[in-house]
Amino acid sequence: VKIALIGSGNVARALARLLDHKRGEHPFGIAGIRRRNDSESLEEFLRRTNAEVLVELSTLNPQTGEPAATHVRTALGLGIHVVTANKGPIAFAYHELAAIARERGVRLLHESVVMDGAPVFNFVRNNLRGVRILGFTGVLNSTTNVVIEAMEQGASFEEGIARARELGIAEANADYDIRGWDAAVKTAALANVLMDARITPADVEREGIEGLTLPGQGKTVRLVSRAERGRFRVRREVLLRTDALATVRGTSNLILFHTDLMGTVGTISISPGVEQTAYGVYADLLELIR
Ligand SMILES: NC(=O)c1ccc[n+]([C@@H]2O[C@H](COP(=O)([O-])OP(=O)(O)OC[C@H]3O[C@@H](n4cnc5c(N)ncnc54)[C@H](OP(=O)(O)O)[C@@H]3O)[C@@H](O)[C@H]2O)c1
Repeated sequence: VKIALIGSGNVARALARLLDHKRGEHPFGIAGIRRRNDSESLEEFLRRTNAEVLVELSTLNPQTGEPAATHVRTALGLGIHVVTANKGPIAFAYHELAAIARERGVRLLHESVVMDGAPVFNFVRNNLRGVRILGFTGVLNSTTNVVIEAMEQGASFEEGIARARELGIAEANADYDIRGWDAAVKTAALANVLMDARITPADVEREGIEGLTLPGQGKTVRLVSRAERGRFRVRREVLLRTDALATVRGTSNLILFHTDLMGTVGTISISPGVEQTAYGVYADLLELIR
């Protein structure tokens, strides 16, 4: 099965390693890699590679989701399946793109958009059949976890950001994490897919951790995403250290789904890295041939 790849960064390299490591266990091969300044059009690239699936791993544009949303729209329109780890298309245009996929009889899969390869969308699809998602609560941004933990160990806010950069998890523009945009993009993606919300990140009420002061003993802070029907929020919350949300540290993430039939149930991922992002893409590829 021929894959056309967009992007050749960390996730793309980890995916290539994974496909190689698991060769013999899957039918996938990378037929072409599109780079930022290629002169041929995307349509030409997809036709030339004879791709059956587009894997979108380009840089996220947190303001518009472009050009990734256009990449996804173009491939789906040509009747090509899409797997994306790029949050943009799902946070900004999910409803429209899912409609094109349905019309063309192809799949749009996106497990790695939130919590890397840990089951979030797949969990709801495969293990919560017949359940309605009424809302969710999540700790989904790693940079803020690292900054808070560093401050609790006596570092300044800026030193905390520097530590997140050293770990390679802060975006080049750390403001994007600190002011809650990353969490808002993830919240919008989750709400669009799981709650048919039809929102963009701008519709998420947003408060970051800028200017943070630490709460008293026995308490801590996390940047928490909360969704209920018609209301989507990202804000810093003071939590008891014993709260399940407060136990999430570093790149670890947690999401709880609030449901009609299954009460509250969720997923936790401990210290995931880029290999787990690549796994989410691989899991989506396997879903395509299931
Ligand atoms: N890293 C993670 O753990 C993780 C987790 C979940 C989701 N994601 C998402 O996965 C995607 C890839 O992440 P990454 O860590 O691999 O990023 P990265 O290392 O920065 O790689 C991004 C790649 O996309 C290329 N690119 C940018 N714009 C392009 C365009 N218009 N056309 C073709 N290629 C383009 C870049 O090329 P240049 O080198 O020329 O800029 C680079 O090769 C992002 O959307 C990210 O948000 C990442």
